[in-house]
Amino acid sequence: MKIHKLEEIWLVLSVGIIALAVIITGYQAFQLNMAPPSHKETIDPQKVSETAPFDQPGVYKTGDNEYEVIMTLQTFSFEPNEIKVPKGAKVTFTMTSKDVVHGINVPHTNINTMVVPGYIQKITQTFNESDEFILICNEYCGIGHDQMSAKIIVEE
Ligand code: CUA
Repeated sequence: MKIHKLEEIWLVLSVGIIALAVIITGYQAFQLNMAPPSHKETIDPQKVSETAPFDQPGVYKTGDNEYEVIMTLQTFSFEPNEIKVPKGAKVTFTMTSKDVVHGINVPHTNINTMVVPGYIQKITQTFNESDEFILICNEYCGIGHDQMSAKIIVEE
């Protein structure tokens, strides 16, 4: 069998492009640690309000300018819905949903993930500038989806 020269060139090129994409994505994910955050820990979604730490949602200081936000998502709110941290704070959000699939997205940061009932989701972000951020739900969760938001205030 004889392959046309041009066909051969395009064949090699297309396989090459795919290989290159895999290498680049792999490098970013594993070497540069840019893979999306993932975390697998389960919880009974019916008993979120009775299960620690979600029985006490809030902002907790865990170290030198390190904070943990224990957060529940429910139709159609975040609890807590106002988070105040100082500039430079490294904040870990530990979240779960009390009902349906929600999302969390903070524009201009890397915070962007689904929060699925039955699972505990964690995401860490350092806030280097004093600013105010809006935190929105980015998974359609019902009639009040567009009202579901919260605020992060990074103080000087
Ligand atoms: Cu919660 Cu959309």
